[in-house]
Parts: sequence; C-alpha cells; structure tokens
Amino acid sequence: MKDARVALEVYLTGLRNQHAVETQVIGTVQNELARMEPYPELYAKMRAEKERSTTQAARLDDLLAKHGTGKSLAKEMVTGAVATVAGFAHSGADDEVLKNVLAAIGLKAYEIGSYKMLIALADAAGAPEDKSLLEQSMKEEQEMGDWLGEHLPMLVHAYLGQRSA
Ligand SMILES: [Fe+2]
Repeated sequence: MKDARVALEVYLTGLRNQHAVETQVIGTVQNELARMEPYPELYAKMRAEKERSTTQAARLDDLLAKHGTGKSLAKEMVTGAVATVAGFAHSGADDEVLKNVLAAIGLKAYEIGSYKMLIALADAAGAPEDKSLLEQSMKEEQEMGDWLGEHLPMLVHAYLGQRSA
C-alpha cells in the first residue's frame, strides 16, 4: 500500500513537471517561429508542434484533475537540464535556425523519455487507465523527433541556400 502511495506521489510530480515542459515548449516555439518563416516546411511543422504541445498540456491537466490535484500546485518552472534544452533560443546567431532544430531534437528525446517514465509510473501508481493518453503524447513526440532527424540534412541545405542567396 505504501509503495503505491509513493508511486502516486512521484507520478503526480512527474505529470506537473511535464506540464511545465509543455508550457515552456509552447513559449519557445512561439519565440522561434518568426525566424523559421524562410523554411516553409519547418515553419508548418513547428506551428503544428505548438498546437500539439497545447493539447499535450491539456491532457496532463485532465490527468491531474482526475487525481484531484492541479498544475497550480506546481511552480511552472522547468529546472535543471531541460531548462537548458527547452529554453534554448539562439537568438541572433548566424546559424540560429540550425541550433534551434538541434535543441528541438534534444527536447523531443527528453519528452519521449519523460512520457515513457510517466507510463511506467501510472502502472506503479495503480492508474493504468491513464496510459492511453500518455501513450498518445509519447507517439506524437516520437513522430516529431523522427521528422526533425530525417529532415535535418534537408534543412542544412535550405540554410546554406539562404546564406548564399
Ligand atoms: Fe510535448
């Protein structure tokens, strides 16, 4: 019994932390979007990413509410390594767009891991019914991570094209 209580506590903290990450992503993407306009495919994908992050944050809200708690208990603060990754806006650098794409790839890897962890915690906390929402978000993170990885060479070429234009 005690184990499940501990697991629930860790699980709810994890949900709040991931909510803070999604919130941070929405702000970061918003800041970067304008400078991605010369790269239409990336621009469209990042716009969709912002909307998806909003949906993912809402799913986390729903799960927290279901467990009788809310995100308001959490400081919406991203700490540690993820702040470095999520808050990475390389404003003004020549190769800003490339750096931001690299940061986004790192962030997606973090988020995939985070949802995977939450899925394991949901089980341990006796809330397996939460898993389908978490799996949905994890799949979206994977899809975006794959897209960024696959399109990185193309983006490099597009960037070089912009530079020599
Ligand atoms: Fe996300």
